[in-house]
Amino acid sequence: MSTFIKNMPKVELHMHIEGSMMPATLMYLAEKNKIKIPYQSLEEVEQAYQFSNLTEFVNIYLQGTEVIQSAEDFYLLTREYLVKCRQQNILHTEVFCDIRTYVERGLPPEMVFEGIETAFKESSVQDGITGGMIPCFIRHEGVEKAWEDWQIFKQHHERFLAIGLAAVEVGFPASMFKDVFAEVRASGLPIVAHAGEEGSAEYIWSAIKDIQVDRIDHGIRALEDANLVNYLQQSQIPLTVCPCSNTALHVFDHMDQHVIGRMLDLGLNVTINSDDPAHFGAYLQENMEAVQQHCGITDDQLLRMTYNAIDASFAQTQRKDEMHQILDDFESRFELPLI
Ligand code: ADE
Ligand code: ZN
Repeated sequence: MSTFIKNMPKVELHMHIEGSMMPATLMYLAEKNKIKIPYQSLEEVEQAYQFSNLTEFVNIYLQGTEVIQSAEDFYLLTREYLVKCRQQNILHTEVFCDIRTYVERGLPPEMVFEGIETAFKESSVQDGITGGMIPCFIRHEGVEKAWEDWQIFKQHHERFLAIGLAAVEVGFPASMFKDVFAEVRASGLPIVAHAGEEGSAEYIWSAIKDIQVDRIDHGIRALEDANLVNYLQQSQIPLTVCPCSNTALHVFDHMDQHVIGRMLDLGLNVTINSDDPAHFGAYLQENMEAVQQHCGITDDQLLRMTYNAIDASFAQTQRKDEMHQILDDFESRFELPLI
């Protein structure tokens, strides 16, 4: 275990709240809410958390959400994740959620927002952790459902950091959601979108040109298009890269094939994140360790990605300055010769 990584103050910009549901929590919520699940034991859940691609993962992930039934359950989930953040020295985290699966089951969308918010308030008071929510449209549900979601999101506008686009990518380019994101943009909320995770570089272009994203989630397939690399170098659009997610979903078969080192060498605005830490068995710290071990990413590069994440976050300017100072202090302490 690297003490540098362990002690480094961190920022996370790409984490889906249900993706932080540990197998034990899934079992607990299933029993509490009397929901039948296709697993008898923790081992069976862990076995199910082996995926061959994004679509298979999304299906299992969405099935797991059935055990969540109330604001209290969302509070529990978020609180568990934020406790982990404290343990991993995460100063600020921006959490994805969606409402579609709950609304389809006749549950109130407010339960999602209230549960997450209550946990954030508690962790802000107790541990000084900041952040908030980014609700996502579920792209494979189609644009009509996205419009329905937007009618709800806009009533709660001030609760959110941004609006996102997630779930099955191939066949559902950002261009499909052009009009609804035009309304999001007009409301003043920033826009983020998963793009270039499984989909080709074209999906990243669509996120840039059709919905004018402020950040790209993943973006790893950008390297297949030299013009796009050039554009990303010039524009410095932040990319929220999730290495352990990419190997778990077989975008790369092994971490030593991951392109994060090349992306950094090309001067892209890369940040490092966990995506779905419970499903992929790796929180932010474990993602950092994996790329250090298998991709030759240095401590300096980890620091750079963390500075990038501070700047790319939707935190207020004062908080960004504060986080810069915390990271500067850490860096200068680590540069002191060890006696
Ligand atoms: N929802 C949760 N995890 C996701 C991922 N890796 N890609 C797209 N949608 C997701
Ligand atoms: Zn994601």
